[in-house]
Amino acid sequence: MAALIQSIGDLREVARRRIPRAIFDYADGGSYEERTLRRNAADLDALSFRQRVMIDVSGVSLATTLLGTSASLPLAIAPTGLAGFFHADGEILGARAAAAFGIPFCLSTMSICSIEDVRAATTQPFWFQQYLMRDRGFNQDLIDRAIAARCSALMLTLDLQVIGERRRDPRNGLTIPPRITWRNAFDVATKPSWALGVLFGKRRTFGNLAGRIDGTSGIRTLAEWTATQFDPTANWRDVDWVRSRWPGKLILKGILDPADARLGLAAGADAIVVSNHGGRQLDGAPSTISVLPGIVDAIGGGCEVLFDGGIRSGQDLAKALALGARAGLIGKSFLFALAAGGEAGVTRALCILRDELKVTLALTGTTQVGAAGPHMLV
Ligand SMILES: Cc1cc2nc3c(=O)[nH]c(=O)nc-3n(C[C@H](O)[C@H](O)[C@H](O)COP(=O)(O)O)c2cc1C
Repeated sequence: MAALIQSIGDLREVARRRIPRAIFDYADGGSYEERTLRRNAADLDALSFRQRVMIDVSGVSLATTLLGTSASLPLAIAPTGLAGFFHADGEILGARAAAAFGIPFCLSTMSICSIEDVRAATTQPFWFQQYLMRDRGFNQDLIDRAIAARCSALMLTLDLQVIGERRRDPRNGLTIPPRITWRNAFDVATKPSWALGVLFGKRRTFGNLAGRIDGTSGIRTLAEWTATQFDPTANWRDVDWVRSRWPGKLILKGILDPADARLGLAAGADAIVVSNHGGRQLDGAPSTISVLPGIVDAIGGGCEVLFDGGIRSGQDLAKALALGARAGLIGKSFLFALAAGGEAGVTRALCILRDELKVTLALTGTTQVGAAGPHMLV
């Protein structure tokens, strides 16, 4: 794989050929006109590095700590719903690849493999992400399950009280479980290994929601289920409630404004994730890289500041580190790699990002990730 796959873009192209269009587009797309999705990438692209020369960079180190645990590089795998549709057992494979690499994997509530499936198939602790549901009993239940699975952090996502419309999904007829229809029959027929693993595989719906979905009708669409289950009344008091229920590290994800960053810190976050949900929620919101410095400033070292949105290379990651992020998270890059090659694909993606980051640090004269800063940028 190494010779043919040189970049995350290469993995994306392989993914496009291996999985049905509805699944590919579910990851590739954003909400509404996809303005924020494009901004994430464009604003990262627009930054230039300051090249420095004649500095001994023979020992560039990428090692860091995330929430008190050592990590081999400043990167984590973001929570992504339906990862198990990109490859059979996708969440298990992602967790294994991350653990072998020495970085955190975050499992989404909306995963195909359940918390217990991932726990049983892996040896390292993983992070678990949840939303605030109308039924708080379900949140408590998920917290209890995450404790039982010895998850090392709980990530509470704050930016999805209502769901931004992702227009590609209804156009493509994305359903859960996936179904063969006259519209997608040709597409599916040309992806036999995907069909064998996922369409006819043993896990075909949300693993964590067993007993919460009407077994006969299924869920049909993600938007439909979200609209009825996620709590639009959720507010900072509910974050306090989660804080009081979860004894471990708490990560608040979906912060895009310094005022919310301060509220998150006050609510007892151990880390926040500067995120616009990968351009999948508020269309017209700023790119994450453009708001990162202001949020880092507002947090003032009070907790760890993580970053996601548009990371497709080690250079992108280096830019986020330069502007104050402790680490980056990857959503789409992970899913494309998973679709392209399962666990080996994810490992390849992590190698690519690691190697690109290392060279970028070296060429900006930065010998360790902890020393990354605005001096790396023009
Ligand atoms: C297909 C897909 C599904 C996602 N599902 C979730 C989810 O279940 N929970 C969550 O907090 N974020 C979810 N996200 C957002 C990611 O965690 C992350 O914020 C985003 O993907 C980062 O941007 P990037 O895709 O450009 O790396 C999802 C993103 C994608 C692409």
